[in-house]
Amino acid sequence: MEVKIAPSILAADFSRLKEEVESVETADWLHLDIMDGQFVPNISFGPDVVKAVRSHSSLLFDVHLMVHEPDPFLESFKEAGADRLTVHVEACRHLHRTLSNIRELGLRAGVALNPATPASMVAPVLHLVDLVLVMTVNPGFGGQRFLPETLGKLAEVRRMVERMGVGPVELEVDGGIDSSTAPLVVEAGATALVAGTSIFREPDRSRAIARLREAAGARPAPS
Ligand code: DX5
Ligand code: ZN
Repeated sequence: MEVKIAPSILAADFSRLKEEVESVETADWLHLDIMDGQFVPNISFGPDVVKAVRSHSSLLFDVHLMVHEPDPFLESFKEAGADRLTVHVEACRHLHRTLSNIRELGLRAGVALNPATPASMVAPVLHLVDLVLVMTVNPGFGGQRFLPETLGKLAEVRRMVERMGVGPVELEVDGGIDSSTAPLVVEAGATALVAGTSIFREPDRSRAIARLREAAGARPAPS
């Protein structure tokens, strides 16, 4: 499976969001980080911003809800143009219900794990999702350092998906992904890479995306 690249607009210049979104058209998905100031210690943006950029991108909208009990907001993100809604295991008291609600809206559903949450937490819901997001930093901010201790969990989720034979499930990583960490996560089983800082800090976005793709296909350097 070709590795997907998902630029996170959290690292974009919000005063020029239209141009920023248009600058990453050579990627596969657009990653939109929704932070509620409760589940994570930061506030980003909501459905209105997702809606405002929807007409400026043809990419799949991969919406990462860092939101405590997100059910009341699912429909507004659908209306705004989300293609996939990913919710956190740690934020949903009734995870099956939330994931089923997302699917009933006709959207793809994803489930995310914080670095300290064990892989086994997603086992009961694997049949309800098309993506598992393994956070490689603690969510809340862009530009943090990749946590290498998440690599073992990534490999564990990959094995679990294969063992359970639940059909195609993307394995996404998010946080501190650049051309040096990309080969490590791909070797551990990642099929989709979220990258904020490493793409938006480069003036030439297509080049930054191409570099990440190339790194994703490279063998990790011996440590
Ligand atoms: C972190 C967000 C990430 C973040 C990644 O809470 O979920 O998507 O934007 O940013 P970088 O690539 O800068 O670590
Ligand atoms: Zn994210």
